[in-house]
Amino acid sequence: MKCNRLVDAGRRQFLRGGLVGAAGAAASAVLPAQQAQARSLARVEYSASKLANISDLTVNEPMDIAYPDADSPGILLKLGQAVEGGVGPDGDIVAYSVLCPHKGWMLSYNGEDRTLNCPGHHSRFDAEASGQQVWGHATNNLPQFVLRVDDNGDIHAEGVDELIYGRLSNVL
Ligand code: FES
Repeated sequence: MKCNRLVDAGRRQFLRGGLVGAAGAAASAVLPAQQAQARSLARVEYSASKLANISDLTVNEPMDIAYPDADSPGILLKLGQAVEGGVGPDGDIVAYSVLCPHKGWMLSYNGEDRTLNCPGHHSRFDAEASGQQVWGHATNNLPQFVLRVDDNGDIHAEGVDELIYGRLSNVL
């Protein structure tokens, strides 16, 4: 009699374990779908925005721009030699946010060493290396705007490769 009770208890335990296992398997089957949805929500649909024409640019003289909206200042820059992420016939046109990734101070361009420099806590970013941080408090590289040049030489911004300072999403 005692032995039968133990067998019943063992069966119940086994069935409970099976149910938990089945629930876990079902949850793990759902999880990839949820992850895929979360990933797609994290992606941002950028609008294209014409910034200038190639003929408007002078080598090493930044042009003030804003992208993806008026509250996101940046610069458009022709560097005079092909660089990473550069577009146009010479592969030398780039654009960056000028909001420092550290605390949002406005960066200024130094044409001598082709860096963007922060007056706040002195972070520096390399305009010839996709905005790579070269010194300072910031923990991110500078957001670089994705550019395209059309057949007329018009330069269009079509995306941003890092999160712009102060935003939860680059597109508000
Ligand atoms: Fe630019 Fe702090 S705000 S380094």
